[in-house]
Amino acid sequence: MGGMGVIYKAMQEPLNRIVALKVLLPLTSRNEESSKRFELEAKAISLLQHQNIVNIYEYGEEGEYRFFAMQFVDGEDLAKKIQRRKNMSYTEIIDISKQICRGLRYAHSKSVIHRDIKPQNVLIDKGGVALLSDFGIAKIFSSTHLTLTGVTVGTPEYMSPEQAEGRTLDQQTDIYSLGIMMYEMVAREPPFTGENPVSIAYKQVHETPIPPSVRRKDIPKRLELIILKALKKEKRDRYGSAEEMLEHLDSVDLDERVERPTLSFTNRREETEHVLDKRITDRRSGDRRRGRAGRGASGRSAGSLLDLEYWIEMVRSQWLALLLGGGVGIAFIAHLLLMH
Ligand SMILES: Nc1ncnc2c1ncn2[C@@H]1O[C@H](COP(=O)(O)OP(=O)(O)OP(=O)(O)O)[C@@H](O)[C@H]1O
Ligand SMILES: [Mg+2]
Repeated sequence: MGGMGVIYKAMQEPLNRIVALKVLLPLTSRNEESSKRFELEAKAISLLQHQNIVNIYEYGEEGEYRFFAMQFVDGEDLAKKIQRRKNMSYTEIIDISKQICRGLRYAHSKSVIHRDIKPQNVLIDKGGVALLSDFGIAKIFSSTHLTLTGVTVGTPEYMSPEQAEGRTLDQQTDIYSLGIMMYEMVAREPPFTGENPVSIAYKQVHETPIPPSVRRKDIPKRLELIILKALKKEKRDRYGSAEEMLEHLDSVDLDERVERPTLSFTNRREETEHVLDKRITDRRSGDRRRGRAGRGASGRSAGSLLDLEYWIEMVRSQWLALLLGGGVGIAFIAHLLLMH
């Protein structure tokens, strides 16, 4: 059972074909217009045919229920893979990310946005092929289940800032959610979590993510930069297309690690951003300039001196330098006192 309905493993007659049957929760209000909209949207997503997208065989309505019969993927979803005890290897993380990027590139070229990219919607079959499921279904669901409060359908941990704010969405929302998912594959936890959906949505809009290298130190440098660029709050700083992101994923050098300077966390973050701009956007210097101008507006900095999280992180990552620095200081003061 998911957020929008129930999913069954079913048999399609008379083909004797195993399918995944997704039955959406009954309509809260039913009218001509919502039925028509469902038809239109369902038609658009059922036309998507790609190796990395779960194929939709059929859609329809039966009484108050609407359903999709989809390709059954024999394997497991990415959420389960992440939750296993062992860390995912970087080769596997990059492989899965690239497959998802290819699926997105195709769907975006047909003007279809997923809107609900999350590990539960990535199915991995036994041959290692990653397939995106529930393409565009979040939109159909929310547009035909008009709620009184106008709640956005989606999962807060994976929502883009523009989605969290209820703004109009384009393909870049999927790129952000993919960035969150990649972060989670590396760190086994998404960057923004919290007690309730509102606090998580707030973080999506205002908080800068802690660089993944703080959570998993051996991450290839370029992979970290790609994730951080996908997670930019402002769309103009983020990857403009899945194609562009795919190109960068192709160039990850698995042996190039993030350096661990002994400077403070603040400097480290600035340096990461600096490298990010240089390494990834230098082909589009116009964007880079605008990015710098817009950064101040994109919310609280993780390096703020009043931020408890910052100090905890600082002590955790720099304890040796702090200890040594303190030792040298004490020795120096003792030396001065003895001289007098
Ligand atoms: N086509 C499929 N083939 C095999 N298993 C599937 C398929 N689609 C979904 N599943 C399995 O069923 C689970 C529930 O899927 P479902 O889409 O109903 O919920 P969800 O992805 O958790 O949330 P949402 O309703 O927001 O999509 C998935 O996590 C996956 O394990
Ligand atoms: Mg799903």
